[in-house]
Amino acid sequence: MIRYENIEVRFGDFTAIPDLSLEVAEGEFFTLLGPSGCGKTTALRTLAGFAQPTCGEVYVDDRRVTHLPSDKRQVGMVFQNYALFPSMNVWENIAFGLKLRRHSRSQRQDLVADVARRVDLTEDQLQKNPSELSGGQQQRVAIARALVLQPKILLLDEPLSNLDAKLRGQLRGQLKALQSEFGITTLYVTHDQDEALTMSDRIAVFNRGRVEQVGTPREIYDSSATEFVCTFIGAATHLSAALTERLGISTSHLSYLRLEKALLETAGAPLPAEYARFTGTVLAESYHGTHTIYTVDVLGAELKILQREDGGARPQVGEPAEVGIHPSHVLSYAEGPA
Ligand SMILES: Nc1ncnc2c1ncn2[C@@H]1O[C@H](COP(=O)(O)OP(=O)(O)O)[C@@H](O)[C@H]1O
Ligand SMILES: [Mg+2]
Repeated sequence: MIRYENIEVRFGDFTAIPDLSLEVAEGEFFTLLGPSGCGKTTALRTLAGFAQPTCGEVYVDDRRVTHLPSDKRQVGMVFQNYALFPSMNVWENIAFGLKLRRHSRSQRQDLVADVARRVDLTEDQLQKNPSELSGGQQQRVAIARALVLQPKILLLDEPLSNLDAKLRGQLRGQLKALQSEFGITTLYVTHDQDEALTMSDRIAVFNRGRVEQVGTPREIYDSSATEFVCTFIGAATHLSAALTERLGISTSHLSYLRLEKALLETAGAPLPAEYARFTGTVLAESYHGTHTIYTVDVLGAELKILQREDGGARPQVGEPAEVGIHPSHVLSYAEGPA
């Protein structure tokens, strides 16, 4: 459906994207995830036709679109700040692209009414100025403005990042529902790991303009391909050389363990036999309601252990603790050039 082939994007002397190849399937919710400045927006803009690559090709449905003007690509883009026109009301905002494409007044009426209904904007809201709407409603306007042109692909650039945490959580579900209702291939940009894991069919993790791994959320989290992906996608303890060695893993590798993979023995829950057993000392605990995170000194590693709250007796800070680690859960990376 979408194919980036050896795309390079430069701004003067600076290479924002050195060599990007990526394929997105029809109907997929595909996320570009990475820290600020890693090239996510640039990758979207290249597909939308707002940035010109210096090398490589972009294909949509096997059609080369690399040099096609933006409005010929059947790609709808929702910008990070929504970029709604403040001098127009909501209806005019949504209808804007239709007017440019010379749709008649009655066609515009029908198409806007249809898309507004599907994204849950009321007749009343259509007559308002965008500034009179909440952040979540403005976002739906921006999405409606893109969808009304019936694009084959929807591009969403950090659409939730300007909203407060609670609304962000609600809108994740709404966005996802909209996407599956429209069945539209979606390229979604975020720097938020949690958002990427909960919403995506597949994720490409970006670092400095390069893709470090492409996979399903589970693949990215459980089998992180690189040290960068491992530490960016979720919390993990860096294991000491002594602990790594005791687990039978080469100490020439950097080894990590996710917090929920380490087990703490409690009175009611002995460690499974297949786990390697260590005696450590509890250094600290932090209570999070649904779980507690313990910091346990094990052979010089400050191992973080996430324990669900089950009401059982737990070791206290300063006391010894029995810790279990399954070697297959350790994520190991050869030390390479940075
Ligand atoms: N128009 C531009 N001119 C010069 N540098 C740019 C331009 N757009 C982006 N960049 C640079 O390219 C890099 C990637 O930017 P961007 O794609 O916006 O990253 P992200 O969306 O992941 O935060 C950054 O270093 C940014 O400063
Ligand atoms: Mg960006």
